[in-house]
Amino acid sequence: MTINRRWFHLLWPVVIIAGLLMARQWMGDPTMREGQRLYEAYCMNCHGENGEGFLQMIPPLAAADYLESHLEELPCVIINGLDGPIRVNGIEYNLPMAGIGDDKLSVSQVQSLIHYVRNAWGNVGKKSSRKEVEEWIEKCE
Ligand code: HEC
Repeated sequence: MTINRRWFHLLWPVVIIAGLLMARQWMGDPTMREGQRLYEAYCMNCHGENGEGFLQMIPPLAAADYLESHLEELPCVIINGLDGPIRVNGIEYNLPMAGIGDDKLSVSQVQSLIHYVRNAWGNVGKKSSRKEVEEWIEKCE
């Protein structure tokens, strides 16, 4: 018992670190949370709650090959919109999507939004750096 008490103070850092890890787990990834909030505000009406799209009018984002094959263009799609025809998972879509403009979102918000659509609904995509997203935005202006 005396030995236990003597070493007890050494446990505190362990308890604190474990607590922080649990809190992080519980609160989730902040980038995903911000991305989800933006998705719900700006995209969900059209692309759907689960990124499923709508008939042959609005392409899906869930399991969409377009996201990874056009990764560097995603910021432009969000900011400037897109005017087809485009092909997503072998299906042609050709309705214009309006962009949300270049003054609504910061670079890091565009980064979060892209990260979210690439990792929600079973999608898996590596996080793009802020610098990459910034370069892609510059290229599309
Ligand atoms: C008013 C409806 C509407 C809204 C709102 C909208 N989109 Fe779209 N989106 C479309 C349509 C329609 C297309 C197909 C455009 C084409 O055919 O060229 C499209 C295409 C896309 C594509 C490329 C194709 C694909 O499925 O991968 C991406 C990526 C995309 N939208 C992401 C977004 C994101 C992110 C937002 C929110 C910032 C958003 N869209 C908001 C209608 C919309």
